[in-house]
Amino acid sequence: MSTLSYVKNFISDKYIASITPTSDFGVRKVCSKIDFSRCGLVVEYGPGTGVFTKYLLQKMGPDSLLVMIERNANFAKELRMKFRDPRAVVVNGCASDILDTLAEIGKPAADCVISGIPFSFLTDNQKNRILRNSYAALHRGGKFLAYQTFYQSNNHLKSHLEQIFPFVQVEYEMLNLPPLRIYEARK
Ligand SMILES: C[S@@+](CC[C@H](N)C(=O)[O-])C[C@H]1O[C@@H](n2cnc3c(N)ncnc32)[C@H](O)[C@@H]1O
Repeated sequence: MSTLSYVKNFISDKYIASITPTSDFGVRKVCSKIDFSRCGLVVEYGPGTGVFTKYLLQKMGPDSLLVMIERNANFAKELRMKFRDPRAVVVNGCASDILDTLAEIGKPAADCVISGIPFSFLTDNQKNRILRNSYAALHRGGKFLAYQTFYQSNNHLKSHLEQIFPFVQVEYEMLNLPPLRIYEARK
């Protein structure tokens, strides 16, 4: 699975939103906010070609679980072939369905939700539905991490997060091209 595969899918699906996958700088900066020693269940929204997935599986423990929710059917298929790891579950669906997904796999709550989906393409109602369901899906103390390139967004997500999560912080990774805005929200 390559940048070429990413670009091909980008051309036919506007919800992919970014022309290249996130860089190593971006992946490391976002994931530096995760305490992997306390993460039994991570949910990843919009894994794409799996740049975060690869890093997360390297860092997560042997008894942990990574549930990927990917809207694009081609990416979901490629992810299933690439990550033949008993800790990885790929769901071809929408992030808004996180509560149903957790119920289906028999897990009550997640420790961390990490999201690469383009929130700027969504209506306020769609954004709020995903954020509210993500909040409901987290354990108390659990984290919601979202990354968006500067092209994908102004700082619109912060106010939506602040209506739902008691703690919200925004940081940047300027070495990613284009630079990333990273949101960290805690339940
Ligand atoms: C900007 S790309 C990020 C891909 C990858 N995580 C990365 O960092 O390179 C956005 C991804 O989110 C997926 N996506 C968009 N909307 C989604 C939704 N509502 N639920 C799940 N996945 C979604 C797209 O298909 C795409 O794979």
